[in-house]
Amino acid sequence: MATTTNTRYDPVAVTLHWVIALSSFAMIPLGFFMEDLPISIKFDAYTIHKSLGITVLALSLLRLIWRLLNPPPALPEGMKPYEKFLAHAAHWGLYFLMIAMPLTGWLMVSAMRKYPTVFFWLGEVPFIPMPQGIDAKATAEWFEEIHELLAFGAIALIALHVAAALKHHYIYKDTTLTRMLPTWISRKPRA
Ligand code: HEM
Ligand code: HEM
Repeated sequence: MATTTNTRYDPVAVTLHWVIALSSFAMIPLGFFMEDLPISIKFDAYTIHKSLGITVLALSLLRLIWRLLNPPPALPEGMKPYEKFLAHAAHWGLYFLMIAMPLTGWLMVSAMRKYPTVFFWLGEVPFIPMPQGIDAKATAEWFEEIHELLAFGAIALIALHVAAALKHHYIYKDTTLTRMLPTWISRKPRA
């Protein structure tokens, strides 16, 4: 396993973290509410949801590869072994969700084959091939159930993750949060 002596996340990891985090904050409420939007904007809302979701999938795969090639800084010295284990488990859980969430969405629309996914109004994203003879409606509903279950899992894990980051910053007063912030924010002198 590669190791590093870096004390902060590199700029690529930081950029990908915040772009994916902000997209996720937009995607979860959008997913829940888009069904009830007026018909005039509903179709566009679905297009944005699906396009941003495919973008998150591509960025998350890129981030995972980047992460495997560029080990992150070590966790703070003072953390107990079980705290380190939980931190790593939470991070890998988030990586899993960042890939499984969009993938189940894409599988759902691919099983249904009713509406094409038009990537930001630019061009069609192909459907993921499905086995011959499957029950399209039942399969799509099954993926939708998983998509929804994962969304609840994501809400819980993101809440824990944010709470942990804030606890490190305001209670333990260590560098866990600042090392994941862009340098132009983390290097600002405190008033
Ligand atoms: C970061 C990625 C994603 C997140 C966080 C996300 C989140 C959600 C949430 C919370 C819902 C509402 C719960 C549900 O009905 O399942 C939803 C619905 C939906 N999502 Fe996603 N989604 C993501 C990616 C995608 C992708 C890539 C697609 C398709 C290409 C997609 C297609 C859909 C569709 C069609 C629905 C509506 C299901 C229905 O109401 O029948 N999602 N999404
Ligand atoms: C306000 C929201 C958020 C804050 C304050 C935050 C903060 C942080 C911090 C401080 C770290 C570094 C932890 C460490 O050094 O060990 C981190 C890592 C991470 N965050 Fe977030 N985060 C937020 C939202 C999210 C969201 C929404 C996701 C996923 C959808 C996410 C996914 C991850 C992952 C996967 C890592 C592990 C990075 C690695 O070591 O490879 N974060 N986050």
